[in-house]
Amino acid sequence: MPTRTRTKTTIGWIGTGRMGYEMAGHLAKAGADVTVWNRTRAKAEPLGKYGAKVADRVAHLADRDIVFCMVSTWNDVKDVMQQLLAGKKQPRIVIECSSISLEGSAELRGMLAARGIEYLAAPVSGNAKVIKAGKLSFVCSGPRKAFDDALPYLEMIGPSASYVGEGELSRIVKICHNVFLGVVTQSLAEITVLAQKAGVPRHAFLEFMNQSVMGSMFTRYKTPAFVNLDFKVTFTPYLLRKDMDLGLDAGRRFEVPMPLAAATRDQIQSMMGRGWTEQDFATLLLQQAQASGVKLEPENVDVKDGLS
Ligand SMILES: NC(=O)c1ccc[n+]([C@@H]2O[C@H](COP(=O)([O-])OP(=O)(O)OC[C@H]3O[C@@H](n4cnc5c(N)ncnc54)[C@H](OP(=O)(O)O)[C@@H]3O)[C@@H](O)[C@H]2O)c1
Repeated sequence: MPTRTRTKTTIGWIGTGRMGYEMAGHLAKAGADVTVWNRTRAKAEPLGKYGAKVADRVAHLADRDIVFCMVSTWNDVKDVMQQLLAGKKQPRIVIECSSISLEGSAELRGMLAARGIEYLAAPVSGNAKVIKAGKLSFVCSGPRKAFDDALPYLEMIGPSASYVGEGELSRIVKICHNVFLGVVTQSLAEITVLAQKAGVPRHAFLEFMNQSVMGSMFTRYKTPAFVNLDFKVTFTPYLLRKDMDLGLDAGRRFEVPMPLAAATRDQIQSMMGRGWTEQDFATLLLQQAQASGVKLEPENVDVKDGLS
């Protein structure tokens, strides 16, 4: 690899979808030297107002010191990484944040190791609103040194970065996390509709739940959607189904039965089959209401999401 004479670490950012846009924006606002690339360039351009540069081609990020990647599936990651590494230049570290399989992550590690590039697998917990609120969490695995070098930049994006060990260990942590996200959301939909059908307004029920030992940052920030039926997308049903499938694949591989995950995966599939694909995955509530013979109306109550 050619010797670098620059002193300031340069960052490349691949993928400015819902998550990547906010994450790269935090880096740029914190004063990092960031160049972003997105397949649909128009989505990356507004980051210019925070000082980020926008590249025309992903290969233009190859001379950056650290390249982050935040796209959708393993196939998409592979696609952009092949473009990134097509030329002679290469970054020192790649930090891959999309939610992908252990197998995909291991294949990427092999591709990068063959070029002498350090690789940190760094998936995240939290949606774009969580990033805006400064509460995103990373779970990281790979060489400890790559983690230590990346940490100042991870901390510009979110306050918490856990190092869980070598290899692809962070991937299984993230897969487990999102299986829980799906199961909890389905369960929350079931009990919210049950309480409503028995006569309790959703806002009153969820206010109690959120303050109880069962409440969480997640139940609080999903409450406005459940109460006022605002399903502006934060995370698509398609991406959640991908994560449930990753969880079920891992369950098969490690021979762990996952009955709740399997049932939830099929609830998500049914919801998608009914055409609820473009809104937030919290439309699991609408499906549950329909299955219960309950007609939902927005309650138009000013409930807090716990983030602002
Ligand atoms: N949303 C959440 O709450 C959340 C939370 C944690 C983790 N995640 C994970 O984070 C990742 C991104 O999620 P998101 O919600 O930001 O998704 P998103 O809004 O759909 O954005 C996807 C991004 O990937 C790009 N992309 C997809 N396929 C590509 C390809 N073949 N080549 C180049 N670029 C490609 C898209 O480019 P275009 O703009 O051109 O389409 C876009 O920038 C996913 O793995 C997801 O599971 C999401």
